[in-house]
Amino acid sequence: MKLRLSSGKEIPVEMHKARMVQKIWLTPAQERLKAIEEAGYNTFQLKNKDIFLDMLTDSGTNAMSDNQFAGFITTDDSYAGSMTFYEFEEAVQDVLGYKYVMNVHQGRAAEHLIPRVLAKPGDIIPMNYHFTTTKAHIELIEAICLEIFIDEALNTESSHPFKGNMDPQKLRDAIKKYGKEKIAFVRMEASTNLLGGQPFSMENYKEIRKICDEHGFLLVLDGSLVCENAYFIWKREKGYENKTVAEIVKEMCSIADIFYLSGRKNTCVRGGFIATNNKELFDEIKPWLPAYEGFFTYGGMSMREIGMMVPGIREMVDPEVAGCSIQQIDYFVNRLRETKIPVVTPPGGLACHIDAMKFLPHVPQQQYPAGALTAALYIASGVRAMERGTISMDRDKDGNEQLSHLELTRIALPRRVYTVSHMEYIIDRVNWLYKHRDLIKGLKFVYETPVLRFFLGKLEALDNWGAKLAEAFKKEFGPDY
Ligand code: F0G
Repeated sequence: MKLRLSSGKEIPVEMHKARMVQKIWLTPAQERLKAIEEAGYNTFQLKNKDIFLDMLTDSGTNAMSDNQFAGFITTDDSYAGSMTFYEFEEAVQDVLGYKYVMNVHQGRAAEHLIPRVLAKPGDIIPMNYHFTTTKAHIELIEAICLEIFIDEALNTESSHPFKGNMDPQKLRDAIKKYGKEKIAFVRMEASTNLLGGQPFSMENYKEIRKICDEHGFLLVLDGSLVCENAYFIWKREKGYENKTVAEIVKEMCSIADIFYLSGRKNTCVRGGFIATNNKELFDEIKPWLPAYEGFFTYGGMSMREIGMMVPGIREMVDPEVAGCSIQQIDYFVNRLRETKIPVVTPPGGLACHIDAMKFLPHVPQQQYPAGALTAALYIASGVRAMERGTISMDRDKDGNEQLSHLELTRIALPRRVYTVSHMEYIIDRVNWLYKHRDLIKGLKFVYETPVLRFFLGKLEALDNWGAKLAEAFKKEFGPDY
């Protein structure tokens, strides 16, 4: 909840209390330098012992509720026919309105199964924007991701409330250009991750549905961040101010033919699921489940995780849960903006994103400014963020670099984990970095994998800039920080 102080300033106030905590450490800058060098300047490769605030992702790092822990204890464990699965099915029906549901081990498993069943090589899948694992799975079956975003989506300093919208005219043009037989399905991603957690509006979503109906296309909703998208519709879209987040989520679900999500975000549990009201489609996907995921009543999750997901689904549409990160991000982004740091606006539903091309205009995109800024932030603060730029794009078939539309350093806000004082600390260190940005140079790859290289790739700092940055930091803050 946002509460106004007597000064008039608003701060995000947590509507929960910590009942279990985990100790964290801040190692000094010289040790952080050693750690990031060993990690090949890739924050995915850091070890947790070297991290102060882990803001790599909001995936699988959220604090669970007391009810979820209770679900862990009361779960009915069995390989097949667990009653916990039927409780899960009932929660999905109640909250999302889908009759048929199957679990998968996490979001990307859904992204594997859906195109496997619905698409073939050469098919085109239009979407408001790609996500890394979505694109990888579509390209692995030799189909094509076609991103149809609105022009404003790439403007990082915008006030457009729905930068995750799909451009309906561009979709119509694409159907004309490629022919409707080539289009396997249309995908909308809630709170578009790689654009900076930016939502689409209900109006736009309904318009895309209409185009799908005109051509007989299936509409697939990636609902990994569905509650944040619904929250933004509630706060930003005319006509929705008197609805509840729960009602908006249900309405969003009623529009899609197939819904899937990564449970690691909104439900705060490792896992995921695919849901639909279309029995035929469901029966087409279901037979693949035992081969790739597990038996139908657990689908690659443990029963205990499903037991924790049941309250997770019911709680995720509570506005205090759906909005808890949004309000922190709003505070974080606005505070950074006050200090002239180039952040993505409007604030999104997943993280605070820094525009690295604006922060480091002297680093060419071929030298990965977002990767460099992410590593620099770690050296200067112990905060682990994530590169969301060209490193997160794989090379094309001929080995050419594919430059990303945006170069973002993503500082994710796991749900119910960090507080305003943590954010204030980061704001201070980002400002220090901004003053010393000339010390930050580019990176070059020394090891790449053929797919999703950002996970396991290793890089080197050009001109050994990491050491120079750590030295400057030590000079100012002393050896203990
Ligand atoms: N779709 C979206 C929109 C996502 O954000 C993610 C994961 C996935 C699908 C894949 O789900 O990880 O459970 O297999 N996003 C995480 C992130 C990894 O850090 O943003 P998964």
